[in-house]
Amino acid sequence: MRTHYCTQVTEKNIGETVTVGGWVNSRRDHGGIIFIDLRDKGGLVQLVCDPQDSKESLEKAETVRDEFVLIATGKVRARGEGLENPNLTTGKIEIVVSELTIENKSKPMPFELGDEKVNEEIRLRNRFLELRTPKAFDIFKLRSKVTIQVRNTLDELGFLDVETPILTKSTPEGARDYLVPSRVHPGEFYALPQSPQLFKQLLMISGFDKYFQIAKCFRDEDLRADRQPEFTQIDVEMSFCEQEDVIKVAEKLIYDVFTACGKEVPSTFPRMTYKEAMEKYGSDKPDLRFDMPMVDVIDIFEKSSNEIFASIAKDKKNNRIKALKCPNGDNIFSKRQMKGFEDYVRKFGAKGLGYFQMKEDGLKGPLTKFFTEEDLEDIIKATELEVGDVVFFGAGEKKTVWDYMGRFRLYLADQMDIIPADTYKFLWVVDFPMFEIEDGRTKALHHPFTMPKDLNKDDLEDIESIAYDIVLNGTELGGGSIRIHKEDIQAKVFELMGISEEEAQAKFGFLLNALQYGAPSHGGFAMGLDRLIMLLAGTDSIRDVIAFPKTQRAQCLLTDAPSPVDNEQLKELSLRIRQTQQS
Ligand code: AMO
Repeated sequence: MRTHYCTQVTEKNIGETVTVGGWVNSRRDHGGIIFIDLRDKGGLVQLVCDPQDSKESLEKAETVRDEFVLIATGKVRARGEGLENPNLTTGKIEIVVSELTIENKSKPMPFELGDEKVNEEIRLRNRFLELRTPKAFDIFKLRSKVTIQVRNTLDELGFLDVETPILTKSTPEGARDYLVPSRVHPGEFYALPQSPQLFKQLLMISGFDKYFQIAKCFRDEDLRADRQPEFTQIDVEMSFCEQEDVIKVAEKLIYDVFTACGKEVPSTFPRMTYKEAMEKYGSDKPDLRFDMPMVDVIDIFEKSSNEIFASIAKDKKNNRIKALKCPNGDNIFSKRQMKGFEDYVRKFGAKGLGYFQMKEDGLKGPLTKFFTEEDLEDIIKATELEVGDVVFFGAGEKKTVWDYMGRFRLYLADQMDIIPADTYKFLWVVDFPMFEIEDGRTKALHHPFTMPKDLNKDDLEDIESIAYDIVLNGTELGGGSIRIHKEDIQAKVFELMGISEEEAQAKFGFLLNALQYGAPSHGGFAMGLDRLIMLLAGTDSIRDVIAFPKTQRAQCLLTDAPSPVDNEQLKELSLRIRQTQQS
């Protein structure tokens, strides 16, 4: 029906007759002449309905309201002098309508398109309308470009796109499963995949050699700005490989994707061990767009006359005392703000937050009395202080100190506004521990199918794994590992995690069995596609990059899911809802 999209009509078309279709973005009646901004996925073009050119069109235009769907034919002409709109690509022309068709009407809109202040609930209930804006459309254009590039690069590298089941058995990736009841097997359930992890490993045992999938994953976990219960991974696995081979594939993929999107990134990324990341940045996903590393000062504090510090410093294995320098902080922050910082870290388990100010005549602050002149000098040296700087201290159990000092580093940088926009800082974090112990339970830090480096360590937390994460601007973009391809090692890992042989057989018997039939060495990674698009599009909510996202409470407001089902349906599934007291 159309000869052009709205924004394709330019000065080059002056004098030509064109046909465009779209939605009424706005309509202005200038005493007998009606101007309509018509919008399609790309943007706007101005229509003019003048009785001199078509009386019939003007009459129709009078009945038109916002978001009516129109098809308009007319001659392109230059706008009058002074009437040009430099903000529009079509701002120098307009279409003088000779024929107007109202293809459909629209009810008044529930909210003004593009108004981001509108309550999110209203926007999500009407998500199909929110997606009408060119800004939203651009995000999905970007998303499509990325997935096409992912397929092209991986195809070029010899990877095969294979779909794996959605109705499957639970794969532990650290979250709760979404369960689907079986009608034909009463009382039994499928689990929706948290990732295709085990299937991609099985495909390696099948000899498929190189697999990929743009895979939907489902995790019932607490939602945050960068988490959805249903999300997409770029999932990759390859055989006969070492960490280096996998990293090369991931770097090429990222390089190609960013280049296709017109973004300049290096072709290889720096690496940091998990240990260094935690000790220096208090996080396994450090944001390296700014530096501000933490410095270990436990040896200096051990000598202090403050009993609390001295006793914390005695247990160097489990405790940490970390200093964080805030350059020029003394001139930037008031006393009240410094006090506020303490309140901030307390939320994350800190008992307090000490600080020194670097003045012309040395270190000042309430803590100085606990240190000798010499120790104070050592603090200045260790943290490379200059006049005007402030240095903050966190002391206590190491995981707590890493966590709150790491968060505080980000908080300070944000307050100081020193994080550059439009910069991409990639980092590989490598040599992750195999296990972490939480509430006395041994858990796999990545997942239990990760190859440990050496299982023979006295302390389980000292066992490292061949696992790596790709971090971008402080966000975990992806993760992967070399996998266990020997059945005895896999069984040992389950045992160390306190999973009995029976439980391992019941949950992962199919994997343990497959590992006995010639499993090659293999490894891979998965990157969060939604997070990747968020970072490329520069948006801070994952909901912006998913066509029909869920709320923070895992609901789809548009379709009203989840929702109750008929008793008949429940009966068929052999299910009964237990009435619980609403709190
Ligand atoms: P992992 O659990 O680290 O690894 O997930 C890989 C990447 O998926 C993204 N991601 C999410 N994105 C949005 N919402 C969520 N709820 C969510 N959870 C994870 C992140 C993350 O880095 N099977 C392994 C990969 C492997 O070892 O090959 C896995 O799933 O960007």
